[in-house]
Amino acid sequence: MNDYVLSTRKLTKRFHGFCAISDVDINVREGAVHALIGPNGAGKSTCFNLITRFLTPSSGRIYYRGEDITSLRAAEVAGRGMVRSFQISSIFPELSCIENVEIAIQKREGLSFNFWRHQRALQAHRDETMDLLACTRLAAEAGQRAGSLPYGKRRALEIATTLAMNPSVLLLDEPMAGLGREDIAAISDLIKEIRQGRTIVMVEHNLDVVRSLSDTVTVLEAGQVICQGVYEEVSTNPRVMEAYLGAGDDDE
Ligand SMILES: Nc1ncnc2c1ncn2[C@@H]1O[C@H](COP(=O)(O)OP(=O)(O)OP(=O)(O)O)[C@@H](O)[C@H]1O
Ligand SMILES: [Mg+2]
Repeated sequence: MNDYVLSTRKLTKRFHGFCAISDVDINVREGAVHALIGPNGAGKSTCFNLITRFLTPSSGRIYYRGEDITSLRAAEVAGRGMVRSFQISSIFPELSCIENVEIAIQKREGLSFNFWRHQRALQAHRDETMDLLACTRLAAEAGQRAGSLPYGKRRALEIATTLAMNPSVLLLDEPMAGLGREDIAAISDLIKEIRQGRTIVMVEHNLDVVRSLSDTVTVLEAGQVICQGVYEEVSTNPRVMEAYLGAGDDDE
C-alpha cells in the first residue's frame, strides 16, 4: 500500500440498491499520470467522487499517502493535497480569469467567510494568481470575463483554479471533453507541464490522449476494474476491446 500515493480497496458505492461501483482496487504511483477509462456509466466519476469524499463509500477503503482517509470530509482531503476537477465546468462565467483564480485561492485558505479581509486577502494573492495564469498560458486574458473565453482557454482556466488548491494529487475528470484538435494539443501540453512534481489521475475518453499522456491505465466496466496496466497492455486486452466495441463508445 505504501508504494502508492493513492489506493482503493474493495471500494463500493450503491445508489438506492443500484451498484455503481463494486470492489474497485486502484493503485496510483507517486508522480504518475494514471488514466481511468471505460464506457459511459462505468463508474469513473463515481470513483473520483468517492476518492475526494464528495460521496461516501458504501464499503471499502481509500488510502492516501499511507493514511486511511475513508472517513475524512471532502475539505480535509483537499487540505491534504488531493484535489479534483469536475466534468462540468466549475468556473464563474461572469467573473474575470483573475477573480476566478483568486476565489479558488481564498477557498484554499478558508477565507470565504471573512468578508472584512476580503480585499486585503485578494490583494495578497495577486502574485500567485498571475503566476497560475501565466503557467496555464492565460496571462494575456487575465482581465477577461471567463465566459467570453474560447473553450480551450476556459478549460485551461478550470485547471488554473484547480492548481490554486495546491494539489499534489490532481484528479481531472475528462479534461479534453468538448475540445477540438488544437485545444486538445494545448491542454495535453499543459498537463505534461503540470505533472512535474505532481501525480495526476485522469478520466479521459480520448484514447490518443490516454496513450500519449498516461503511465498506467485502469479500465472500469459496469462498476468493476477489468484491467490495469500500461496502455499497450490494456489496449490489447480482449475484455477491454470487447467492453469498448460492445458499448460503441466513440462519441466523446
Ligand atoms: N447520484 C447518483 N444517483 C444514482 N445513480 C447514480 C448517481 N451517480 C451516478 N449514478 C449511476 O452510477 C453509474 C456510474 O456513473 P458515473 O457518473 O460514475 O459514470 P462515468 O463512468 O463517469 O460515466 P461518463 O463516462 O458518462 O461520465 C451510472 O449508471 C450512473 O447513472
Ligand atoms: Mg463521468
